[in-house]
Order: sequence, then C-alpha cells, then structure tokens
Amino acid sequence: MIQFGYGGGFGWGGSCGALVGSGAAVQMVSKEKKDWVRIGQILFRWYESTKLPTEISNRYASNHQFLVPKYKSDKILPQSVSHSIFCHVSVGRWCETSGYASGSPERSERCARIAGDVVAKAVELLNLNLRGALPEAASKVTLSPYTAGCRTCHYKGKNYEQGQFERGFLECESCHKDMRPHISGTKLQTAFGTPIDTWAKFLTGAAVGGIGVHLITKLARGEHEES
Ligand code: HEC
Ligand code: HEC
Repeated sequence: MIQFGYGGGFGWGGSCGALVGSGAAVQMVSKEKKDWVRIGQILFRWYESTKLPTEISNRYASNHQFLVPKYKSDKILPQSVSHSIFCHVSVGRWCETSGYASGSPERSERCARIAGDVVAKAVELLNLNLRGALPEAASKVTLSPYTAGCRTCHYKGKNYEQGQFERGFLECESCHKDMRPHISGTKLQTAFGTPIDTWAKFLTGAAVGGIGVHLITKLARGEHEES
C-alpha cells in the first residue's frame, strides 16, 4: 500500500520511503495522535542525525541473517549521516562518502539495509512508548543549534514581518549555509528589538564558531509547537 514511497515518492527524491512507510505503520498501530506524532518526530530526527546503515544491519547482511533470498551485496558498507530526511540528499551524501554510484547494487543494498534500520527503530520507539518509557526529553522536538537559531524567527506563526513565513523542523543548515540575505543591509527590527542584520551576523558567527548557541536556544525554548 505504501510502496509509492520508493525513491522518496515515485522516485522523486522526497522523504526517504523508509520513513514514509514506517510513519504510516506507526500511525496505524498507535491509539492516540500524540503518540504517533511524538514517535514519528523522534524517528525523523534520528534518521537525520544517525550514521546509516547501522553497524547492526551491516553485520546482519554480512552474516546473511536478513530474510531475503538474494543480497545485492553482502559487503560491510560505508556509513554516512544524511542531515536530511530527503532521499535525494541522503543518497547523494552516501554516494559521495562511499564512492558508489547511485545506480550501483551497493547503493540499492544500502537503502534496503536502511529500510530495516528505520523499521527496527520505529518498533523500538513503539515498544518504549507502550511501556511508558520514551525518554521525557523526547516529548520536545530536538533542534540542531543552528536550526534553533533560525527558528527564533522562522516558524509557523502569524507575524509575517518577523519571519513567520516558513514552517518545519528540517536541519536548516543542510541547505541554507549562506546568511548573506540577512546581512545585506536589512534594517528590519526583530521581535527582540535588534536589527535583523545584527542577529544574522551573530548567528553566522555562532554557527561557524559553535558559540553563543545556548543563548539562542534559550530564546527559542518554550516557543511554537508546530502541528
Ligand atoms: C531575528 C530573526 C531572524 C533569524 C534569527 C533568522 N531570520 Fe531569516 N529572515 C528573517 C526576516 C524578518 C526575513 C525577511 C527579511 C526580508 O524580507 O528582508 C528573513 C529572510 C530569510 C530568508 C529569505 C531571504 C531572502 O532574501 O528572500 C531566508 C532564506 C532566511 N531568512 C533563512 C534563515 C536561516 C537559515 C536562518 C538561521 C540560520 C535565519 N533565517 C535566521 C528573520 C530572521
Ligand atoms: C532541503 C533544503 C532546505 C532546508 C533543509 C531548509 N530550507 Fe529553507 N528554503 C529552501 C529552498 C529551496 C527555498 C526557496 C528559496 C527560493 O525561493 O529562492 C527556501 C526558502 C526559505 C525561506 C525564504 C522563503 C522565501 O522564499 O522568501 C526561509 C525564511 C527559509 N527557507 C528558512 C528555513 C529554515 C528556518 C529552515 C530550517 C528550519 C529551512 N529553511 C530549511 C530549502 C531548504
């Protein structure tokens, strides 16, 4: 039923099909919306930030422990962190790391292993939740420090002038690395009464130097839950 998710949706390279399929399954077996939303959000963030395929699935494949008649490859495959839920980015970064082409059997096998990894993670989260043991911290969406900075202004909200014309929890830095739009002499005042270009310089410095991030994260805290 959810095979359309292949290749990020009919081959389009959108959300990784393993996430689409697992998300659908998690919703189907969960009683309450708050449960499947929470599990799905943890799963998506895990996918963005974890080295995949996991060592466990590499080991299963090299020992031929997966229940498939034939392997596209039983090598231990290189791992990479996608920093993105998108098939396009995830495959691209893995190919870059591994040196395998996107049409290689190793790349197909890599995605098959990741499908197993994602399903296993989803089941683990479902079980934790049933036992009431999902970590407390998991009830909030975790943001990368850079993203937390951006989301002090850019989130699903009602104030267009302050930057609320975007939504989503994607890792902003996986695409927006260049903060020059903010620096180019914008005199807009922000919610905190600071000209936007001051913030932009601060944020760029923070992102590059990895400092000042806690302050930004604090400002971002307690804000905007998105649905
Ligand atoms: C202090 C508030 C604030 C923060 C923090 C902030 N922005 Fe913005 N951003 C704005 C506002 C307001 C605009 C609209 C400015 C305008 O139209 O001149 C904007 C515009 C943009 C645009 C459109 C630029 C263009 O020229 O169309 C992008 C892209 C963007 N921001 C990305 C980001 C990213 C990525 C981050 C985090 C690194 C970030 N912003 C952090 C307030 C902010
Ligand atoms: C997968 C890549 C990707 C990610 C991740 C991403 N963006 Fe964007 N964003 C884009 C693209 C593409 C555009 C459209 C740019 C354009 O229209 O020129 C855009 C546009 C924007 C704009 C300007 C809207 C406009 O056109 O005026 C803002 C603001 C913005 N993004 C903020 C963010 C923030 C904040 C995050 C993190 C929560 C984020 N983006 C994550 C790709 C991304």
